[in-house]
Amino acid sequence: MQVAMIGLGRMGMNMARRLLKKGHEVVAYNRTVKKTEELAGEGATAAYALEELPGLLQSPRAVWMMLPAGPAVDDHLDRLLGILSPGDIIIDGGNSFYKDDLRRAGISREAGFRYVDAGVSGGIWGLQEGYCLMVGGPRDAYDHLEPLFRSLAPEEGYLYCGESGAGHFVKMIHNGIEYAMMQAYAEGFELIEASSYGKDLAYDHLCHVWNRGSVIRSWLLELAERAFSADPGLSEIQGYVEDSGEGRWTVEHAVEAAVSSPVIALSLFERFRSRKENTFSNRVLAALRREFGGHAVKRTEQDEAKR
Ligand SMILES: NC(=O)c1ccc[n+]([C@@H]2O[C@H](COP(=O)([O-])OP(=O)(O)OC[C@H]3O[C@@H](n4cnc5c(N)ncnc54)[C@H](OP(=O)(O)O)[C@@H]3O)[C@@H](O)[C@H]2O)c1
Repeated sequence: MQVAMIGLGRMGMNMARRLLKKGHEVVAYNRTVKKTEELAGEGATAAYALEELPGLLQSPRAVWMMLPAGPAVDDHLDRLLGILSPGDIIIDGGNSFYKDDLRRAGISREAGFRYVDAGVSGGIWGLQEGYCLMVGGPRDAYDHLEPLFRSLAPEEGYLYCGESGAGHFVKMIHNGIEYAMMQAYAEGFELIEASSYGKDLAYDHLCHVWNRGSVIRSWLLELAERAFSADPGLSEIQGYVEDSGEGRWTVEHAVEAAVSSPVIALSLFERFRSRKENTFSNRVLAALRREFGGHAVKRTEQDEAKR
């Protein structure tokens, strides 16, 4: 089937490649022309302006945005609503906040369009392994797009999750779980590293063994095995961990819904902590222990120099 892919980044480019490989017709558009040309060289039809899309697609048109969440999505949706025709389907496959979907789906519906929110998981491995897809929006649009989902996903790797927002809501929770799982693995390795057994253990081999029938086997452990075998002490990496929104939204949702989700919340807060050394909160703790119990504190180098 025909689809336009807007945004040929790490995700959109390989998703378009997978669709081409499976025999779909892809119209490619990207802000930076070089990537559009690259994909055109692999069989896609190039569009050098959004305004070219209507003339290159048959109705009902399917246009898939793979852009950073936020203003870029609003801007492209706004422009697409101005150039496409009622009945056409616009898909947001980025990591958008599900409440933004509700607003965007409403605007699209009022103008006669069908807006689909698709949570996509699989990262840079999706080209070979397939992308797990969690889809929300009008059911008839989902049914129409199913050939695309079937080609993008591994076998049985896509699901209609419900009305508008459901796809990105489920993807948000998925990422919250991902934060917590990663944190648990990270703490496990830190505990081993701090023990007398750590120095004799090859962590890549340990990951490998844990992935052979153990309860904690997982793809994350396969990735950990790769990372440890390339750099056993992870000495080339700083322990600074970014977050990309979904973890925060998951925790915000937990607060709104008054659902206790301490493990996910703590894994998010640990990421914040990873970005700071010698935190103010820890200095407050040390100061309080000194005040109430006369416990020793470690002086800063500056303070030592003054003495
Ligand atoms: N990477 C992952 O593992 C992963 C997994 C699941 C979901 N996602 C989500 O998928 C979406 C795309 O992620 P990605 O990793 O492919 O990002 P990326 O590699 O940074 O690519 C972003 C794409 O969006 C385009 N773009 C960015 N800002 C734009 C703007 N203001 N106007 C027009 N085009 C713009 C870029 O065009 P240029 O080439 O011109 O810069 C590029 O093609 C995001 O929402 C992300 O959260 C990512």
